[in-house]
Amino acid sequence: MSEILRKQEGNILVLSFNRPAKMNALTRSMYAGLATGLNEAAGDFGIRAVILTSEDQHFTAGNDISDFMNNPPTSESSEVSQFLESLLNFPKPLIAAVKGNAVGVGTTMLLHCDVVVASPSAKFSMPFASLGLVPEAGSSFLFPQLVGYQRAARIFMTGESFDAPSAVEMGLVTSIENDPINEAMKIAQQIAEQPPQAIINTKALLKAKSHDAVAAVMKAEFEIFAMSLQSEEAMEAFMKFMSKKGK
Ligand code: COA
Repeated sequence: MSEILRKQEGNILVLSFNRPAKMNALTRSMYAGLATGLNEAAGDFGIRAVILTSEDQHFTAGNDISDFMNNPPTSESSEVSQFLESLLNFPKPLIAAVKGNAVGVGTTMLLHCDVVVASPSAKFSMPFASLGLVPEAGSSFLFPQLVGYQRAARIFMTGESFDAPSAVEMGLVTSIENDPINEAMKIAQQIAEQPPQAIINTKALLKAKSHDAVAAVMKAEFEIFAMSLQSEEAMEAFMKFMSKKGK
């Protein structure tokens, strides 16, 4: 069974993280699957919106820690970079349905989505610094822009998590739903009924002001992230996680 499920319902594509035994932690091949899914959807006239979601109880526990240790994404051609580029440039509506933990890139990818709905169980965190790393996916720009400098600094620097009502209050999530995937589908269908070129143009205009700035920040973040991955601080944090899990 694929670790990125692709399901098409009418003109809506659902991309779902499917690695429940590891809390849907994202591996290189999963990033590659997501990038391919987004790129194909971008060029497919039959797809008018994409939903990002997950199987089982959690959205994703973020980047797979063993991959961070054994296959660190240090080149801009890495799968994670390709995914982030596809995400930044995805021209059609992108809706996320989040339940349970959304750690690291599980939260930062939401900053690129057009609509995010979450279950009451959703829990968001970006513990990059706790792992000896730095914010990625443009989050060092997009998150303070969304929530204000101090709240962003506190969340990045403490590694603390926040719940679904806080995410709504911050504007990261539009609504809390007991069945977020069902609600995401309803929203996607409503959008898919609109004139498609007008939707693409609307998204391009909404993103126009920030697009180039985010691209530049992502590049700078990536360089520091790649260096940090090889640091003693990061190695220590990864080892701590792996040994806690008895691996
Ligand atoms: N990479 C690899 N495996 C991961 C993972 C990750 N990022 N997150 C969770 N897992 C695995 C665990 O090792 C465990 O597998 P195992 O049963 O084979 O040991 C399984 O997923 C369930 O996770 P577990 O830690 O037992 O669940 P929990 O409820 O006790 O804790 C978290 C949940 C999210 C707090 C904890 O898993 C965690 O801190 N994960 C790492 C998150 C992270 O730092 N991500 C990178 C962000 S940049």
